[in-house]
Amino acid sequence: MDKKITVVGAGNVGATTAQRLAEKELADVVLVDIIEGLPQGKALDLAEAAPIEKHDAHLAGSNTYEVSEGSDIVIITAGVPRKPGMSRDDLLNTNAGIVKSVTEEAARYSPEAIIIVVSNPLDAMCHVALKTSGFPKNRVMGMAGILDSARFRTFISMELNVSVENTHAFVLGGHGDTMVPLPRYSTVAGIPITELLPPDRIEAIVERTRNGGAEIVGLLKTGSAYYAPASAVAEMAESILKDKKKILPCAAYLQGEYGINDLFIGVPVKLGANGIEEIIEIKLTPEEEAALKKSAAAVQSLVDALK
Ligand code: NAI
Ligand code: 2OP
Repeated sequence: MDKKITVVGAGNVGATTAQRLAEKELADVVLVDIIEGLPQGKALDLAEAAPIEKHDAHLAGSNTYEVSEGSDIVIITAGVPRKPGMSRDDLLNTNAGIVKSVTEEAARYSPEAIIIVVSNPLDAMCHVALKTSGFPKNRVMGMAGILDSARFRTFISMELNVSVENTHAFVLGGHGDTMVPLPRYSTVAGIPITELLPPDRIEAIVERTRNGGAEIVGLLKTGSAYYAPASAVAEMAESILKDKKKILPCAAYLQGEYGINDLFIGVPVKLGANGIEEIIEIKLTPEEEAALKKSAAAVQSLVDALK
């Protein structure tokens, strides 16, 4: 294929992302991990599925970065996931060191790439990737809002017994307990859910969305979600590689937008060939604005703890 994506971290999220990317024939995929044999084995296994899945994406696995050279997109999933009782923020210091070293290597071999960060705590890890790579802000972003919004959409469709395809939802803010699901901007076939559901049911769905990651961790017990996260990353990669210019909630570096400065946080962005091509500023009520500011303060405290 004429495009190349490197996925760093061949664990649950990384390997499933590689599978989604290859099966969508978006690009050749390179998996990189520190565990000897792991990325090579998973890449080979995925390559051997290609004749059955009918795609011609090439897959390679490596413990070093030479083979990643010239990637169009680098997806960083390296790190440790949450275990029961752990918050995303508990991962701060361990994953900051990992994301820094990974970004150094990946950026050296692919200086023109767009970086999509997945490792948690997401918004703070985006700062590490931006600072370490020295890339412009349109080429460094984080995946979280699409996942959180997909969870919101799933719960809306369960509640109303309608197709998930009819549902749209927006979750803004940091990828943590302070995330900001926006019912007013969440619709079923264009109808705001505030017209379709009573406030107590909306509140219950919002709460389940906020706890969506923890709900999966509690069930799996040995790690965190990966099927839906991988789908969310693949949607970002597709919008970039095909220059689709989809409007998607992603972690973006704000410099004044929404009254927030020098901070990554989830907002609607236009994703195209140049990465984040526009940050969309939607009107918020005073309550929604206060919730976004509170979420920004939580992200800021993590970023401060990185220094
Ligand atoms: P996992 O443990 O299955 O995989 C992580 C992989 O990273 C492991 O294979 C490990 O060997 C590798 N790794 C560690 N240090 C590395 C290094 N220096 N270089 C290359 N590879 C390295 O974990 P999983 O479930 O894949 O999650 C990965 C990360 O993504 C976690 O931090 C998790 O919290 C985060 N996550 C974020 C989501 C989001 O919405 N932003 C959603 C789901 C997970
Ligand atoms: C999730 O939301 C753990 O951030 C991960 O599933």
